[in-house]
Amino acid sequence: MTLQFKPIHPIFAAEADEIDLRNVFDETMLKDIRKALDHYAVIVFRDQKMSNDEHLEFTQRLDSKLHTQTSLSVMTKNRFGNEALSDVANVDENGQLMAADDRRRMGNVGNRLWHTDASFVDPPGRYSLLLGKVIPPVRADTEFVDMRAAYDSLDSVVRESLEGLQVHHSIIHSRQLLGFEFSQTEKDRLKGAVHPLVRTVASSGRRSLYLASHASHIIDWQLPEGRLLLRDLIEHATGEQFIYRHIWQPNDLVIWDNRATMHRARPFADMTYRRELRRTTTLDIALTA
Ligand SMILES: [Fe+2]
Repeated sequence: MTLQFKPIHPIFAAEADEIDLRNVFDETMLKDIRKALDHYAVIVFRDQKMSNDEHLEFTQRLDSKLHTQTSLSVMTKNRFGNEALSDVANVDENGQLMAADDRRRMGNVGNRLWHTDASFVDPPGRYSLLLGKVIPPVRADTEFVDMRAAYDSLDSVVRESLEGLQVHHSIIHSRQLLGFEFSQTEKDRLKGAVHPLVRTVASSGRRSLYLASHASHIIDWQLPEGRLLLRDLIEHATGEQFIYRHIWQPNDLVIWDNRATMHRARPFADMTYRRELRRTTTLDIALTA
């Protein structure tokens, strides 16, 4: 059986045919999904009734290495007891809506900045798998942009000027922009990482801008000039033509390639409605197969 994908945006993103990923063990099918991710960068799978364990197990069939040191795992304890499963929720361990000043809620608020998961570690993130368990009755979209298309549409002189540039990514930087404060221990544990500004996605061969609000400065450049270039590029990459807006339905599993996209959460009445998503992320290490 060949899995079919239907495009849901003019330049990227697709929805997969009906399939229960809990039953996908076949390597050919897994390869088809990876290939589709190379092409579309974002894929929506509807009606995935996965438990936490099934979510983790499918992630490990799709890719080899899980990302465990999430920023939240450094700051707070995870209610699932497994740091590889991120709790993207506005409820506490008792299932109650978080208080306005809850530090975990503030962590979620940071996801409203454009970013790519785990760019502040090395190796950085490859795939993220975000599962909608409890979806509010109001719009609470996740937006994605295609960084390959953003790169391709740059003027060739600009593209050339970006070659070889290296960028330091730090979650401390992006959160401090919002006024978030960190202890010295947290700062020591979240030192950030350096990545090329333009990457070649190994599995597709496509060039892609690798940006995020975590991008704090360009190595060997004057700080203001580097930050202005990063701002200009993020402004370019988040143009309306590059945005896919995902409107969540319960049990949607959205898988994306962090090497080829940025994303952000949109605000909603999170002091009124529950919203519970779970996320796994894999690391961009070389595949042997
Ligand atoms: Fe994210």
